[in-house]
Parts: sequence; structure tokens; C-alpha cells
Amino acid sequence: MDLHGKVAVVTGSGRGLGLGYARALAAAGASVVVNDLDPGAVDAAVEAIAKDGGAATGVAAEVGGTETAELLVETAVRAYTRIDVLITNAGILRDRVLWKMTDDDFDAVVRVHLRGTFTCARAAAVRMREQGDGGRLILVGSPAGQRGNFGQTNYAAAKAGIAAMARTWAMELARSRITVNAVVPVAATEMTRTIPAFAPLIEEAERTGQPLPARLRRDAGLGTVEDVTGLITFLASDAAADITGQAIGVGGDRLALWSHPAEKTVAFADGGWTAEAIAAAWPSGVGAEPETYGIPAV
Ligand SMILES: NC(=O)c1ccc[n+]([C@@H]2O[C@H](COP(=O)([O-])OP(=O)(O)OC[C@H]3O[C@@H](n4cnc5c(N)ncnc54)[C@H](O)[C@@H]3O)[C@@H](O)[C@H]2O)c1
Repeated sequence: MDLHGKVAVVTGSGRGLGLGYARALAAAGASVVVNDLDPGAVDAAVEAIAKDGGAATGVAAEVGGTETAELLVETAVRAYTRIDVLITNAGILRDRVLWKMTDDDFDAVVRVHLRGTFTCARAAAVRMREQGDGGRLILVGSPAGQRGNFGQTNYAAAKAGIAAMARTWAMELARSRITVNAVVPVAATEMTRTIPAFAPLIEEAERTGQPLPARLRRDAGLGTVEDVTGLITFLASDAAADITGQAIGVGGDRLALWSHPAEKTVAFADGGWTAEAIAAAWPSGVGAEPETYGIPAV
């Protein structure tokens, strides 16, 4: 995949998946704007990309508000004259069950993921539409947003909202040839290390230097950051010009297309449905095969 001449902004790219995306895009020839909260991580990422022979510029700023979004696009334009690809990757977790979740836990997660995706995508879309050459908005969802997850009210809501924004913007930006997709990644990072089910497995793999077990790579789609970066490079490339409005899962040995919410069963009653009629019809009709929910344990 040749990305020479393309300019990409990757939020939250000081470490983890974002750093992997920035390095992979730069290795394919793109010029990259690296962003993170952590200025030391930004400097280290820019240095690592330069050492590999790539082009990168750093912006240490907190994603969420409009000012940062506009600064990221301005930096891309100032340093490299344009923006072609935006990856809204910055994110945090503040996991707690509903009855213990504070307003701050909720707002902090929604601010970086949902609001940060909105503000950055809006700033990028304005500039890409002016340029008139199309573009790529690659949003970052999560299995938690697709299915719900215990302890993740704030995060699941934000990530579900991001998938919904991808479908909405795919419609709005189609005429401008700007594709919009949500990737649904899974990988061993500092973030997944905080998830109790994954922590011992990641630590074991690090301690022994062995890859994660094949069962996890297939069933949970849990692997390395490098297992995820190929999808980002592909979506950024000309080869993916016709792919838009999709939620695409990747991790370990898995690549998956997520279905979109759709009516599964439908029934009709002339004149509408009373509560009694629903109660009578539910068990053998529309409700005969209820949907599962939550990320299945593997
Ligand atoms: N790792 C996974 O398995 C997984 C699964 C689903 C979704 N995701 C998503 O992928 C993205 C990256 O996850 P990761 O596992 O690499 O996490 P990570 O914690 O390793 O890295 C996240 C990076 O974002 C930065 N960041 C946080 N808030 C920021 C802000 N407001 N502004 C700028 N930078 C900020 C952090 O400093 C950090 O460098 C997140 O959106 C996450 O929700 C990850």
C-alpha cells in the first residue's frame, strides 16, 4: 500500500494502537501528525517515525474540544499543506457499574471518545471538502459499543455513538468522496491490561516472550497492535475508496464485518398493538428468539 503524498492525523498516537497506526501510515509513505495528551510520548513517537525514515509532526493537546481539533487540522496543513486521513483513536476508560459511576466518570469518557470524534471529524471534514479530493475518516469503535459490556456504561455509550456517527457521516460525506468507517479493534495494550480477564494473559505473553495463545487470537481476536495496523493502512489507501459506512472488526487472527442494527422480526396488527395483544403475541412472535447482549466470554 503506497500512501506517499497523503497526510494523516492520528489522535492519541503517543502509545498503544494509535502509535502503531501512526508508524504504519508513515512506513507506507504518509506524512503524519502525531497527537497525545502526553508531550513526552508525542516527542518519542515523532522521533521513532523519523528514525524509521518517515515524516511526522507532533501536537501535544487534549482531544475533546474544538480548539484541539482545529489545531490538529491546522498543523497538518501548515506542515504538509493538506489533510487526507483522520484517525480518531484517542481514548480512556473509567469503568464502574452503573450505580457507582460518577458524573465525572461519564463525562470524561464521553468527552474524549464521542465529543473528540465529533470535533476532530468536523474540523477534518471542513478542510477535506474545501480541498475537493475526497478523504478518509477512520473512527474507532469497540466491541463494547457494538454489544454492551459490564462496567462500561460510559464507554459502551460513547463507542455505540461513534458507530452511529460513522453511518451518518458516510451518508453526508458521500458526495465529497470522503469515506467514513468505524474500526472495532482488539489488541494487547495498556488499556486492555486494565481489563481483569485479559491482564494475566497479556502479562504471561510478555513474561515468556511467547505470542498470545492461538485460541485467544481466533476466538477473542486478541493479538498485538501490529495485527490491527494493516486494516488502518488499507482503509487509508486508494484501494478502500469504495468502502464507507461500515464497522470493521480486527484483532489477532480475526477480520470481521459487523452487521448494523436492523429489525430482526416484525409483526403487524391492523389498527396498532395494545399491551394485551403484545403480551399474547410476544412469546411465539416477535420475541420468540430474543437477542443476546454483552461481549461473550471466551
Ligand atoms: N486495545 C483494545 O483492545 C481496544 C479495543 C477496542 C477499542 N479500543 C480503542 O482504541 C483506542 C486506542 O486504545 P489503546 O488500547 O491503544 O489505549 P492506550 O490507553 O494504550 O492509548 C490511548 C492513548 O490515547 C491518549 N489519550 C487519552 N486521552 C486523550 C485525549 N483526551 N487527547 C489526546 N490523547 C489522549 C493516551 O495518552 C494514550 O497515549 C481507544 O479509542 C480505545 O477505546 C482499543
